[in-house]
Amino acid sequence: MNVFGFLLHPLGMQDVVRYAPNARGKREALVSKILEWMPAYQASIITGVRSRAVDTQIEGRFITIPMLPQQFLEKERRWVFERVLQGALLAQSNGAQIVGLGGYNSVVGEAGRAIAERLDVGVTSGNSYTVATAMEATLAAARAMDLDLARCNVAVVGATGAIGGVCSRLLARQVARLSLVARSRSRLQTLAEKIHHEGPCAVSIDTDLERGIREADVIVSATSSGGGIIRPDNLKPGVVICDVALPHDVSREVARQRPDVLVIEGGVIEVPGEVQFNFDFGYPPGHSLACMAETMILTLEGRFDDYSLGRGLDLEKVEEISRLAARHGFRTAGLRAFDEPVTGEKIEEVKSRLRDHRRGLSVIR
Ligand SMILES: NC(=O)c1ccc[n+]([C@@H]2O[C@H](COP(=O)([O-])OP(=O)(O)OC[C@H]3O[C@@H](n4cnc5c(N)ncnc54)[C@H](OP(=O)(O)O)[C@@H]3O)[C@@H](O)[C@H]2O)c1
Repeated sequence: MNVFGFLLHPLGMQDVVRYAPNARGKREALVSKILEWMPAYQASIITGVRSRAVDTQIEGRFITIPMLPQQFLEKERRWVFERVLQGALLAQSNGAQIVGLGGYNSVVGEAGRAIAERLDVGVTSGNSYTVATAMEATLAAARAMDLDLARCNVAVVGATGAIGGVCSRLLARQVARLSLVARSRSRLQTLAEKIHHEGPCAVSIDTDLERGIREADVIVSATSSGGGIIRPDNLKPGVVICDVALPHDVSREVARQRPDVLVIEGGVIEVPGEVQFNFDFGYPPGHSLACMAETMILTLEGRFDDYSLGRGLDLEKVEEISRLAARHGFRTAGLRAFDEPVTGEKIEEVKSRLRDHRRGLSVIR
């Protein structure tokens, strides 16, 4: 039996209440204080993953790091790192041969490298498969909206991150103009220079989010901002937004106020077999996040070395993990957003609003 561990954390109060219903109605400040005192713990055992290609039996351990995104962002770095390390060591002592770092667990410690140095088993952020599936979902959504990427303005928000960096380099190969958005100008400049060397795409950089996305026909967003930074204002009618971030970068107000915009989540995967997570992390049965799926795929392969680590991911690994995913029967789920499937009717509605807008029949917002 091959065994993996996967570290997750609550993405907000709704997750805390789902894990611990008696937290309902409590103030976030109080809950945060309680979480600070809780050690990492094993939340469940994952069974039932079955490859299409091999008979290898695998099992997983979900390890919860009891911290909210704001605590990852605001608490002292060393303290946050030690909490994540404690969870990774727990996964290792509970039999994991490789440990996946979900959500903000992979944002700390040089995108997983510092955790990997302290473990005797393999570590992955899961970011290679996250990139592959985010790209796949973005292309599918653009196609559904009849957009030709070769003529599109595309923005990547969180462009200098582990996920955003590779998405930017891959998109640069196929789009007309690329706008790179993040807060650090110097890191944006370094990335833009790298992309210039790699091909002819027209690239601009912006540290102002609203300015950076205003002209975009397609946006890929993968920040570790704490969520909700893409607001209904300043979005072009008909824009496709692939939101990879957890918690999500796109505010729920976009769903309410901008029916002319198509939002999809990147990185939702159907797992082969009859997977039982034995823990409700808010996804439909049989579905996982791409970063979890990457950890499962490597476990099925018996690949227990470190895999996706650091902010400079290998493009070769993005291609390799997609190939391995297909071999074992993992595939991207249908398009989803705001906890629901994105239906054909929803896409038709966005198109129809866009047509009205172009004919001057509606004032959007
Ligand atoms: N769906 C999935 O399966 C999956 C899997 C793994 C990770 N994720 C999520 O993907 C996101 C990115 O992960 P990562 O490992 O790539 O993180 P990362 O390496 O820390 O990169 C984060 C990026 O966001 C930028 N950023 C942070 N705050 C910002 C803000 N307020 N405005 C604009 N840019 C901002 C950062 O640059 P500056 O600091 O210069 O602004 C950086 O470019 C996270 O939310 C993570 O939870 C999802």
